Amino acid sequence: MLCLQTEVTEKTATGYSGVQIALHWLVAILIVAAWFSHDGAEAAMETLEKGGTVGFVPHVAFGMAVLVLVLLRLVIRLRRGAPAAPGVPGSLAVRAADWGHRILYLLMIAVPLGGISIWFLGMDNGDVHGLFGTALLLIALGHAAIALYHQFVLRDGLLRRMMKAE
Ligand code: HEM
Ligand code: HEM
Repeated sequence: MLCLQTEVTEKTATGYSGVQIALHWLVAILIVAAWFSHDGAEAAMETLEKGGTVGFVPHVAFGMAVLVLVLLRLVIRLRRGAPAAPGVPGSLAVRAADWGHRILYLLMIAVPLGGISIWFLGMDNGDVHGLFGTALLLIALGHAAIALYHQFVLRDGLLRRMMKAE
């Protein structure tokens, strides 16, 4: 079995805390919910453009929840740290994992901010927002596939890090 223990670097913890784990899964669910509810936001925009009024828009609520929880998650991560990616420190795989996570964080913040610019500031950039929103979902899917590859092909127990608090 491949050992997950890696060299201790800055901001390294031995594992994710219960709060970090809960936030990871909650945010994942909210991103999927935001993506699948985008039709409602587009319909709401059309109604508003025609001078109508709209009530509760699930897409906006899911997306705003993503932003708030990701900012919280980032603060916790910066203060508490996260376990180093498995593998040889500095190797291509470890650097790819770190950059993959950074890109996910960047998109989890940038996509809702783009949504805010449309919904609250009336800017006309629905296409860009949609493109990056879909990129976020696809990169997250790739990330999930890699996690499952670690768990079931490499059998290094990676998934357990996001299941059991340490
Ligand atoms: C929208 C969906 C998802 C997003 C945005 C996402 C994002 C992230 C991010 C940013 C990290 C880095 C650790 C942190 O600071 O929280 C992470 C870790 C992790 N994620 Fe996800 N994730 C998603 C879905 C999933 C799914 C579906 C799985 C499992 C099949 C998964 C498994 C893991 C595992 C095992 C780790 C720990 C990796 C490590 O310790 O090196 N994630 N995720
Ligand atoms: C992770 C969070 C989010 C994801 C993944 C996401 C994804 C998407 C996608 C894929 C579209 C379709 C765009 C198109 O094809 O035209 C869309 C539209 C839209 N989103 Fe989001 N979004 C998120 C957060 C937000 C937030 C926080 C808001 C508002 C505060 C928002 C407001 C809107 C609006 C108003 C539209 C319709 C744009 C138009 O019709 O021009 N979104 N979103």
